[in-house]
Amino acid sequence: MAKYNIALLPGDGIGPEVVDATITVMDALEKKTDIEFNYTTYMVGDAEKARSGTALPQATIDGVKAADATLFACVGETAKETILPLRQMFNLYVNLRPAKAYPGVPAVRPETDLMIVRENTEGIYKMIGHRSEKSAFNVRVITYKASYNIVKYAMDYAVKNGKTKVTVVHKANVLDFTDGLFLEAARDAAKGYEGIEYRELIVDAASMWLVMYPESFEVVVTTNMFGDILSDVTAGLVGGLGMAPSGNVGDNICIFEPVHGSAPDIAGKGIANPSACMLSAAMMLEWLGENEAAKLIEAAVLKVLVEGKTLTPDLKGKANTKEFAVAVAAAL
Ligand code: IPM
Ligand code: MN
Repeated sequence: MAKYNIALLPGDGIGPEVVDATITVMDALEKKTDIEFNYTTYMVGDAEKARSGTALPQATIDGVKAADATLFACVGETAKETILPLRQMFNLYVNLRPAKAYPGVPAVRPETDLMIVRENTEGIYKMIGHRSEKSAFNVRVITYKASYNIVKYAMDYAVKNGKTKVTVVHKANVLDFTDGLFLEAARDAAKGYEGIEYRELIVDAASMWLVMYPESFEVVVTTNMFGDILSDVTAGLVGGLGMAPSGNVGDNICIFEPVHGSAPDIAGKGIANPSACMLSAAMMLEWLGENEAAKLIEAAVLKVLVEGKTLTPDLKGKANTKEFAVAVAAAL
């Protein structure tokens, strides 16, 4: 029997609601498979900062380090003090952001099925800068090493997942220093991959192409901030942030995370769409090597979406978060 220690960081707003819903599904999974989960919940976010003075307590950092994998939901105003330092301190250099239109979901572009591979540790997110009264700057840090590693990851991801197209997104026509280096590293990293079509696209054009012809993309790899923006664009193509899971992936430590925020407008109402969190849990299982279990969760979510009887309001349904979770658990 496989046994996993999972750190849960529900955070603020709708975080605890979507994590609870996800655990309902994981409980059903335990009954169906011989996998066992042992959960430990850690504090993170705005409420914890108000309570203890820090949004990311040492116990939480230690918990993430000790766990086999972590599920982080969302925080309010303290992202810069929580998920961003976690990505940096554990060198979670890949942010995997799939955009897949599931049948049954009102999607702008139902033909979308792609993976954004976002560099997750540098660029503008190094948060180096300066503000004086009437002027300010932030420095965009790009290294050969991180650029090479992220593009290599994207190429390997393509090979492993039977994809044949990798698109590198940049702005080297303007950001000649940083993205010149990024492209140089990208071209080196892409060498020797027979059978993979390697393309380069400038970020503005890439944005338009993603919206107009999403079916022409399979794997998109880019720097941190471009990946942040493009992954919201592609989430918009497939039904919104309620449908967008992600994984912050390092060599040994991983934090899986729905892309959505704490949604204060609907927090506490019990109507949040937990799909993104459930699909993040599926990604977590895949990373743990439990491919079958991952597929079971995805298939169960898919079944409920296709049936269309128990959808949350963002998907034009009338069900609440709990009802959706119970339906997915039953579908398992
Ligand atoms: C995301 C979020 C974060 C980011 C914010 C909340 C700091 O937008 O995970 O996409 O910019 O990376
Ligand atoms: Mn974002």
